[in-house]
Amino acid sequence: MRQLTDKTALVTGASTGIGLATAERFVAEGAHVYLTGRRKQELEAAARVLGDRATAIQNDVSDLDDLDKLFERIADDGKRLDVLFANAGGGEADQPLDSLTPEAFDRTFGINVRGTVFTVQKALPLLNSGGSIVLTGSSSARRGVVGFGVYSATKAALRQFSRVWAAELAPRGLRVNTVVPGPTDTPGLRGLAKNSGQEHALLDDMASSTPLGRTADPAEIANAVLFLASDQSSFITGSELFVDGGEVQVYP
Ligand SMILES: NC(=O)c1ccc[n+]([C@@H]2O[C@H](COP(=O)([O-])OP(=O)(O)OC[C@H]3O[C@@H](n4cnc5c(N)ncnc54)[C@H](OP(=O)(O)O)[C@@H]3O)[C@@H](O)[C@H]2O)c1
Repeated sequence: MRQLTDKTALVTGASTGIGLATAERFVAEGAHVYLTGRRKQELEAAARVLGDRATAIQNDVSDLDDLDKLFERIADDGKRLDVLFANAGGGEADQPLDSLTPEAFDRTFGINVRGTVFTVQKALPLLNSGGSIVLTGSSSARRGVVGFGVYSATKAALRQFSRVWAAELAPRGLRVNTVVPGPTDTPGLRGLAKNSGQEHALLDDMASSTPLGRTADPAEIANAVLFLASDQSSFITGSELFVDGGEVQVYP
């Protein structure tokens, strides 16, 4: 039995990486998926992979007008949402406090925090009772990784929003949970490692930060998101699900 038959899901940041792997899994489980991202070419390539049960909408979550257009389009299609995976986000390598700029701070908070907050807010009128909201956290929010202060603070902020939203939205029949990936082999992580100028060293270092001694495949994160999105997790809200190879639990 497929787990998302006849459900409609929105996955933000689904043109590559964790979002794309999750959109693929949702489609395989019977959902219709709306997917977003800023780059047209990557988004179209993802939509081709997903086939006719996917609708790609070019969108920037840090732009509130763009977000309004996204939800207007879904409503115009006559759809409502059962699942929202608010995943769009990312970070920049090497932002230690002494060289951090206000622009870099605003960029990362603008996408990861502001973008996620208003994605969820603007999705609310379309979300069906019984629906599931999943946010993407990060294991780095539980650790003191040098140079990742802003990024990990954005993910810590999301974790706290998810607790409060779980309480605020329970009366509407909505659950809110956070999936917490450890280092995951995505174009995003590889780009970050490349920009650091120490691509292989950084990836090796991240792999060895997990007791399992490797990075995750994005499909492994998608499995956990599917669990949180589906009725299999019907009594779970406000939780964090760590998919981090044991990084946080074993080496806190
Ligand atoms: N990979 C890891 O090790 C790891 C670990 C913990 C948490 N995470 C989190 O997992 C999520 C996905 O990251 P990933 O590793 O899969 O990276 P990725 O391969 O770079 O995917 C990020 C996706 O988000 C989209 N995106 C970025 N900014 C956006 C914006 N402002 N509006 C709309 N879409 C946007 C990207 O497309 P465009 O650039 O075209 O917009 C892309 O589709 C992020 O929230 C990240 O922080 C990743």
